Amino acid sequence: MKVSFTLNAKPVTVDVDPSTRLADLLREDLDLTGTHIGCDTSQCGACLVLLDGESVKSCTLLVASLEGRGVTSVEGLADPDGGLHPMQTAFRENHGLQCGFCTPGMVMASAALLAENPKPTEAEVRHYLEGNICRCTGYHNIVKAVMAASGQDAGGAVAAE
Ligand code: FES
Ligand code: FES
Repeated sequence: MKVSFTLNAKPVTVDVDPSTRLADLLREDLDLTGTHIGCDTSQCGACLVLLDGESVKSCTLLVASLEGRGVTSVEGLADPDGGLHPMQTAFRENHGLQCGFCTPGMVMASAALLAENPKPTEAEVRHYLEGNICRCTGYHNIVKAVMAASGQDAGGAVAAE
């Protein structure tokens, strides 16, 4: 079936099997491999993208449901000139990543959070990111990065190990 939607601010039309998942379309057909697949069962958040501005897990989202919608993957978050998005800069400056596997999903979720709540408390950040699993960082510096991106201080960073 043919499906037309907007991907990273550009119109796209794809011809896919109705059972195709967005995560697979992005990675395997469109070479947008910044979206990672961890659990494949909607639990880890590595595959998170924005759908009309809301965070969604693309491993369980069928492309067939995207007609007329707007998708942003992590590749679409940065400036068109290649400059990092402020959330990406905050993750880098606050040691918010180690292996980086969870990072695209964390960054997308965090960007979605600040879009709806520009000055979250630390507790709100932790609550919002409960659907994103990180096996490396212990979360402290991720939360610190999100707080920094919101213009707030969340205490000292813990250096990457
Ligand atoms: Fe989609 Fe884990 S791969 S939530
Ligand atoms: Fe390795 Fe989060 S930085 S899983």
